Amino acid sequence: MDQQTNALRGEAIALSFGGIKVLKGLDVEFRAGEITGLIGPNGAGKTSLFNCLTGAYSPQGGTITYAGSPLDGLPPAARAARGIVRSFQHVALCPDLTVRENVMIGVARNHDAGWLSAFLPLPKGRAEREEMSRNADAALADLGLSEMADKLPSELPPGMQRLVEIARAIVGKPSVLLLDEPAAGLNNTETQDLMAVLRKLASTDLVMVVVEHDMDLVMSICDRIYVLNFGEFVACGTPEEVRNNEDVVRIYLGSEDD
Ligand SMILES: Nc1ncnc2c1ncn2[C@@H]1O[C@H](COP(=O)(O)OP(=O)(O)OP(=O)(O)O)[C@@H](O)[C@H]1O
Ligand SMILES: [Mg+2]
Repeated sequence: MDQQTNALRGEAIALSFGGIKVLKGLDVEFRAGEITGLIGPNGAGKTSLFNCLTGAYSPQGGTITYAGSPLDGLPPAARAARGIVRSFQHVALCPDLTVRENVMIGVARNHDAGWLSAFLPLPKGRAEREEMSRNADAALADLGLSEMADKLPSELPPGMQRLVEIARAIVGKPSVLLLDEPAAGLNNTETQDLMAVLRKLASTDLVMVVVEHDMDLVMSICDRIYVLNFGEFVACGTPEEVRNNEDVVRIYLGSEDD
């Protein structure tokens, strides 16, 4: 399928809380085969847009479609079953599960038995668990985390915890991958490794959207960038176009004074 048919699209997405307009009628197209950046100052509405796309928030207006099918009204689990997966801005790992088990949760949506039965000592569960465990180890290896598999999340530094969160997002081979500030808390080496992983992951049938404040990362891995400010897009284009956009320059120079 080409990037048009597999796109994640939003039309006139409107979201408000208690009368405050957080997203003011956004039209957006995240294409398969591209890495799209979503940038903007704190409070612009980036995470809220992700929440609308995943079904965590129900926008009061607009329509969201993936590959031409409407997602409106579908709960998050149904969207995840269609391969729409996100990582969280604030690391959300289960503290009592090992790193490997945390990643296995991300692969569970592909398995008949579901993750609960995979964790129970049943024959069907055991086979599924072994496969999930292999997949989890492969994702951890991609992120350079093989040696961390048997540790608890709390034993890892914050940067590595975030990479585990990303391993959990990619392990199930998503069709739409929404990453909310994946490089937050990563050191320089970890950020470089992450960029390499994301580039490697990019494929013709994957929609990848990256919310990020690290401009070097955004400018170097994204094909197109949307710039959000106070719930409205102020620019969309290639990294070059966005970098040279006067409104964008003003917003970013302005926000540096805060
Ligand atoms: N559940 C909620 N209830 C009330 N207000 C909310 C809720 N979620 C988001 N908001 C408001 O929506 C606005 C946008 O927030 P959002 O978290 O989407 O911004 P962001 O662009 O992700 O910012 P950051 O870069 O700091 O993560 C903020 O004013 C926030 O307070
Ligand atoms: Mg956010």
